[in-house]
Amino acid sequence: MIQGLYEDLKGKTALITGGLGCLGRVLCTEFAKQGTNLIILDKSQEDAVFLTELRRYQISTEFHQVDFESGDSRSRVIEEISKTTQRLDILINNAAYVGSTDAPGWAVPFQDQSIDTWNKALEVNLTTPFHLIQGLEKLLRLSDAPTIVNIGSIYGSHGPDWEIYKGTDMGNPAGYAASKGGLIQLTRWLATTLSPKIRVNCVSPGGISRNQDISFVEKYSLRTPLKRMATEDEIVSSILFLSSSSANYITGQNIQVDGGWSAW
Ligand SMILES: NC(=O)c1ccc[n+]([C@@H]2O[C@H](COP(=O)([O-])OP(=O)(O)OC[C@H]3O[C@@H](n4cnc5c(N)ncnc54)[C@H](O)[C@@H]3O)[C@@H](O)[C@H]2O)c1
Repeated sequence: MIQGLYEDLKGKTALITGGLGCLGRVLCTEFAKQGTNLIILDKSQEDAVFLTELRRYQISTEFHQVDFESGDSRSRVIEEISKTTQRLDILINNAAYVGSTDAPGWAVPFQDQSIDTWNKALEVNLTTPFHLIQGLEKLLRLSDAPTIVNIGSIYGSHGPDWEIYKGTDMGNPAGYAASKGGLIQLTRWLATTLSPKIRVNCVSPGGISRNQDISFVEKYSLRTPLKRMATEDEIVSSILFLSSSSANYITGQNIQVDGGWSAW
């Protein structure tokens, strides 16, 4: 449960990619509670029950099914949104190939990682934010205070400690690290390029607790100054903050919401 209300988010329109994923659903719900209208993009099929739940908060919701691996699919959705939306205030680039994505040649030992999957991951995690921001810039500029939040990862700035993966079937692909590192730097590039009108920041979560292998959780927690994994709410609250006018003087930053993982 996130405490507090960002009054200025009420009546704004936010586009959230990967809005039907684990973090995406919490993001949509918490923005809805603030009164923010939502445009949700995901490759999963529309979830009518979830959209109905969101509308309980007296907001408008719109869903577009899209495959970010395809440039044509991305161009199509940009065109659709540009035709139907009057103004975009907030863009959250959250969709991604993640560590648990079930793709061949992905979360496997280095020698088994495939170039095909590397390319697809870069397409979704890095090329898509570039393409969406470029394609939607005009719509963002129609807002009084447009803002973009990219979702990175601690693995965009830090190498994996393989000790914590030992004895589990979990992986940490090179393509994930490289794409998130690229996204963090793209954030800085865009922040200076789109300034002073559009603020661009990145939130880099640490590991979120999701019933992972117990030995992983124990070792991960020991490696973290706050001695535990994150909750979805703890990540989402920083995204709400950066999207709101409370963060009006913050741009070009990568905020690591990681329980101190990056502080050692
Ligand atoms: N879970 C963690 O511990 C953690 C840690 C650090 C960073 N993150 C980041 O948080 C964000 C959300 O992660 P999550 O854990 O909710 O993952 P998730 O897999 O639950 O959600 C990702 C969403 O992206 C969508 N998506 C993936 N490929 C797509 C494509 N080709 N086209 C359109 N949509 C596509 C999926 O359908 C899904 O809804 C990601 O950017 C991830 O890298 C997560």
